[in-house]
Amino acid sequence: MQTPPINATDNSPLDVLIMAAGLGTRMRSARAKVLHQLGGRPLITHVCRAARDLHPRHIYVVVGHQAEDVAAAVQAEFGDANVSFIKQAEQRGTGDAVMTARDALAQAGSTVLVLSGDVPLVRSETLAKLVRQYHAENEGGCTLLSVRLENPAGYGRVIRDSDGRFVKIVEQKDASADELQVREINAGLYCFQAQALFNALDRVQPVNEQGEYYLTDVPELLSGEGKPVGVYLHPDAREVSGINTRADLAEFENMLRRGAIRKLMLDGGVTFIDPSHVYVSADAQVGRDTVIYPDVSLEGNSVIGEGCEIRSGSRITNSRIGHRVVIKDHCVLVDSDVADDCAVGPFAHLRMNTKMEAGAVVGNFVEVKKSRIGRGTKSMHLTYLGDATIGEKTNIGAGTVTCNYDGKAKHQTIIGDNVRIGSDTMLIAPVTVGDNSVTGAGSVVTEDVPPDTLVVGVPAVVKKRLDSKQEKEHKG
Ligand code: UD1
Ligand code: CA
Repeated sequence: MQTPPINATDNSPLDVLIMAAGLGTRMRSARAKVLHQLGGRPLITHVCRAARDLHPRHIYVVVGHQAEDVAAAVQAEFGDANVSFIKQAEQRGTGDAVMTARDALAQAGSTVLVLSGDVPLVRSETLAKLVRQYHAENEGGCTLLSVRLENPAGYGRVIRDSDGRFVKIVEQKDASADELQVREINAGLYCFQAQALFNALDRVQPVNEQGEYYLTDVPELLSGEGKPVGVYLHPDAREVSGINTRADLAEFENMLRRGAIRKLMLDGGVTFIDPSHVYVSADAQVGRDTVIYPDVSLEGNSVIGEGCEIRSGSRITNSRIGHRVVIKDHCVLVDSDVADDCAVGPFAHLRMNTKMEAGAVVGNFVEVKKSRIGRGTKSMHLTYLGDATIGEKTNIGAGTVTCNYDGKAKHQTIIGDNVRIGSDTMLIAPVTVGDNSVTGAGSVVTEDVPPDTLVVGVPAVVKKRLDSKQEKEHKG
């Protein structure tokens, strides 16, 4: 979704101002509204992405409630390139929010695109249309973005004269009975000429039902000065609706989720057994002919290959899954990599950069942390593998534990190729088990085991050397 730069022509430079200082009282939350998550990331980052895709000269974010956290959320997404934060000490309304940017912008000679931090789904293409209409028709004044709603309750209404020309915006709480009938609403997205904006804001007074400085008074003031003011009536109301309550948030989440799943089905060739009971983040990728069962969550930027089967109750977060992988029921995979032809679960937990190489199997009630499981290696039952590096074609018996923590620090366990770890083996790390070795059931391995060796007992001692070639021939 590349939007061509708006400033390609000889227009004034574009600066973006995002209002994000409010608490969002209607969320009934201790957390600032713009920090609530939508599609797995804070609301404010959605707006910032849309803004960034316009390639503006600079983005200013007005912060207030939990300012540090809001700034951190934005920076986590973008670094500090072209973004700065302005503190609004007290939340005295949207007009006051914009006023905080006066020093930064009043003399900037720019076009200012004002966005609301709580209108997260707006697309950069739509913002580009708003800016273009401003340059085409209202340069020097203001263009605001409106939509028509079936139910306009709560929004500011766009009032026009009998010729359809813009007159003013009236907030719900200040509107007359007639004005309340108007279904064209102000979406809270505007384009202004910087100097005209701040001159007009100087004249805004908090004389309204809420005792706030309304940014929405500015277009009327500009129009009164004879400046051009126009409205870009956008056809897609949902895209520019704001989030004010948790009910709105859930509705948006649902919309995003349904959109992501539909796209995966239609464009991606992915089968969902029951699309209404799956969560898929907008950033997740899934290969064709993968089948996703009910109650699966694919979070963050997870990537799933082709021909996989993801069974019910599993959560996959920021992980990469290869092709033809089966994730059986009720698995949790976080920040991990699973190569082609592996099987995981049921009830397995992979985390902290665990890597399973091709054809490996991690089975029932097995937890794997920060470990590498080699090609074709199996750990089928009731096992904890932490800080371990395990070679190829090794078998880890039921109940094995890498005892990686001595109460002070974590230690590594290294297991070679073709090893057979007997059931209920305790591996006291740091410890190494050489290639082709075997541990007896119930052994407690406190010292390194050389290759081709059988150890047994508590603590484990060498029982005999194994001639691996003979063993293999013996087994056929
Ligand atoms: C605002 C508009 C309304 C419009 C609606 C669209 C005003 C007066 N009203 O109402 O016409 O229909 O958006 O969604 O502008 N904020 C600050 N500092 C403040 C106050 C607000 O930064 O002092 C921020 C909020 O964090 C939020 C945004 O501005 O991101 C909008 O504020 P909000 O209180 O949600 O305005 P609405 O009542 O929705
Ligand atoms: Ca709002």
